[in-house]
Amino acid sequence: MRTGSAAFGALPATALASAWIMVAAAVAQDAGSERAAFSACAACHSVDGSNGTGPSLKGIMGRTSGTVPGFRYSRAMKSAAITWDEASLDRYLANPQEVVPGNIMPFSGVAEAPARAEIIGYLKTLR
Ligand code: HEC
Repeated sequence: MRTGSAAFGALPATALASAWIMVAAAVAQDAGSERAAFSACAACHSVDGSNGTGPSLKGIMGRTSGTVPGFRYSRAMKSAAITWDEASLDRYLANPQEVVPGNIMPFSGVAEAPARAEIIGYLKTLR
């Protein structure tokens, strides 16, 4: 029995898909800089107290979830009653929909624990 020749037609699509995954990984793992890690969040979250697509994350540590004045939270986030600290942020950022089901943050989470640690390290500086 003869084996067929390589399926050249499949190559471009595969290459494109893996390039896409590498871009996503580079954003999440940007080594060394906590501020760079936060770039995944900055499109929606300010650090200066002003609200955008998401509530400002200024002073997030120790705050109760869903309580930034003037931001229209989902019912889910308003009633979650989580105190944001390292442990609760780590759980939430790993899987936002599992921790606060029905929340409206359009972000699927940060799978890599070191990247979450960098982001949380940066959030701690936002007094
Ligand atoms: C595409 C926009 C978007 C991105 C990207 C995003 N968020 Fe959010 N975030 C939101 C929205 C909207 C809410 C409010 C959710 C609700 O009310 O259900 C929210 C809520 C939160 C809350 C709860 C805030 C509070 O006052 O209780 C935290 C903490 C948070 N986001 C952290 C992050 C971090 C850290 C990142 C980056 C890893 C991130 N978010 C990425 C839009 C975003």
